[in-house]
Amino acid sequence: TKETYILGIETSCDETAVAIVKNGSEIVTNVVASQIESHKRFGGVVPEIASRHHVEQITMVLEEAFELSKLSWDDIDAIAVTEGPGLVGALLIGVNAAKALAFAKQKPLIGVHHIAGHIYANRLEQEFQFPLLALIVSGGHTELVLMKEHGHYEVIGETRDDAAGEAYDKVARMLHLPYPGGPHIDRLAAEGNVTIDFPRAWLEEGSFDFSFSGLKSSVINTIHNAKQRGEVLEDKDIAASFQSSVVDVLTTKTVKAALNHNVKQVIVAGGVAANKGLRNELVNKFADLDIPLVIPPLKLCTDNAAMIAAAGTISYHQGKRSGLDLNANPSLIL
Ligand code: KG4
Ligand code: ZN
Repeated sequence: TKETYILGIETSCDETAVAIVKNGSEIVTNVVASQIESHKRFGGVVPEIASRHHVEQITMVLEEAFELSKLSWDDIDAIAVTEGPGLVGALLIGVNAAKALAFAKQKPLIGVHHIAGHIYANRLEQEFQFPLLALIVSGGHTELVLMKEHGHYEVIGETRDDAAGEAYDKVARMLHLPYPGGPHIDRLAAEGNVTIDFPRAWLEEGSFDFSFSGLKSSVINTIHNAKQRGEVLEDKDIAASFQSSVVDVLTTKTVKAALNHNVKQVIVAGGVAANKGLRNELVNKFADLDIPLVIPPLKLCTDNAAMIAAAGTISYHQGKRSGLDLNANPSLIL
């Protein structure tokens, strides 16, 4: 049987990325141009700057992806692009590039949901075993998704306010750490002790939803009150205490959902999957339960286009196609 080569394009946030994936599971090339340095001094992603960078980068990133692959357009079966969710101006650059290429090269066009991409990053590591449970934790998302077959997603839990990564970034800001703050908190947490009993939002009995805004407020109040009383709180202990609350809720709910739905595999995705505390606790808990756990390497946890090509390959084989009227949809539903 013939090999399938899908070109992936991702521009939903602050990475301009193009990749080529073979048969949905093998990376041929995976080029990512990060803009983090340009957004750092603003303490977060500035949408207007993101769009401008995508415009400047996309052609070069595309050329580089082809150069490194030693493939030509003749080898490409279809073009997969993130259509949402994300920043609308940023998404539009990728969507328009993909549409122009699909038209010029006469290739099928496939719109991909960004979260489906994060999930399929795992298939670049290991074949899926259904039913599977995916924990997606990024700067914009915190979701538990149940999959019974390829390309079918059932969101069984999600955040009601802040995403996990967003909470990390906000707490990091309170501690005057640079953006993105997640990795800094992670590092500090490893040096500190859990000395503060921050709240854990379990929500209603049986709910797989999350909430991190109460925790965030509690961290602000704790820092504020300590300052007023002249108490010294070590940043590393705040980080360790905050992280233990986040990790406790994320891992406990993931375990409950996995047992509840009798899954054969648990996969993790999104930038926060890089968190050492989270990884360790997930590994411990699922080893005890004997449920296989997949956590992709850091490079595949954060935004990239290989994951979009991998998810796009499934859509391609399922016959799903987008028209040249494909539009960016910042609030696309999975
Ligand atoms: O998936 P991603 O690259 O972009 C989105 O789609 O949002 O995730 C970025 C998020 C940021 O909030 C960043 O602070 C967080 O992932 N992050 C971490 C770690 N590394 C990145 N959070 C906690 N611990 C880390 N080691
Ligand atoms: Zn993402």
